[in-house]
Amino acid sequence: MIKRILRRLVNSTMGWLNAGVSDKPLFHSALYSWTNEDYLALLQDDQCNTAVTWGILQSAATAKRLGVSRISMIEFGVAGGNGLVSMEYIIKQVEALTGIQIALYGFDTGTGLPPIEDYRDKPHIHEAGDFPMDFDKLQARLTKAKLIIGDIKDTIGSFVESKPDPVAFIVFDVDMYSSTVSAFRLLEASEAVLMQRVFCFFDDYLACGDFDGERLAVSEFNATHPMRKISPIHGLRYFVPERLSRGAFWHKYRMAYIFDHSKYAINQELVQHDWVVLK
Ligand SMILES: C[S@@+](CC[C@H](N)C(=O)[O-])C[C@H]1O[C@@H](n2cnc3c(N)ncnc32)[C@H](O)[C@@H]1O
Repeated sequence: MIKRILRRLVNSTMGWLNAGVSDKPLFHSALYSWTNEDYLALLQDDQCNTAVTWGILQSAATAKRLGVSRISMIEFGVAGGNGLVSMEYIIKQVEALTGIQIALYGFDTGTGLPPIEDYRDKPHIHEAGDFPMDFDKLQARLTKAKLIIGDIKDTIGSFVESKPDPVAFIVFDVDMYSSTVSAFRLLEASEAVLMQRVFCFFDDYLACGDFDGERLAVSEFNATHPMRKISPIHGLRYFVPERLSRGAFWHKYRMAYIFDHSKYAINQELVQHDWVVLK
């Protein structure tokens, strides 16, 4: 209750500070700004996290445009599970809005970070065993998400073989280079388990360098996969509501392009060029 009152106070103060800043984006785009009205409506609900709601909505809405009715979303790195529980809640709102059915999977060792391999895993910041999970406690909070427990390098293969609905959105939050490399095996999978473009959110993409952690894993992935690339969505913050455009989290979004997907070329502007088409 107190948290809710404080949040309202912060929101109204932000509204006052942002007076004159608009809900309109700087640019319109059939690719991104067309969900802005629905995005802002979802954010009226305090339980919809500003950063992740955008990726969940945008990827589900894109699937709808492409005529795909069932998709999957993933969190790599669950820890105590607050992020996964939040995703689960937002997904239910987005399912109601779009009519798309969304499966959610959370990958984690269950025992915290695995052993640090070398400098690429940032040993100056992380230690094996950081962020352990209380499995029973988290399982009791979940109503939809499935936990996949074990080192990702051992669990990702059977997950792909289980033929999940195509993955449309991934949150990467495993902290370490070696674990991010393991998670990228999903982006090497057959096209049956991937949307042609997969929205990605890299939680550890700020206040870091290019030569360790997630950023090193991404640059190596791009160097070794000619037809699959993880790219910035350049200028994304200019396509979102202006009052949110200063959020640092926009810099955490990337797109995984599956250029060799047989459905890559389907025109996703199929619906129409007005910006509110979900209802
Ligand atoms: C920073 S925490 C995740 C926090 C979580 N996303 C949240 O929002 O609360 C990082 C998690 O990644 C998990 N992790 C790291 N490497 C992993 C690996 N190779 N396999 C499975 N889980 C891993 C750890 O167990 C740890 O719980």
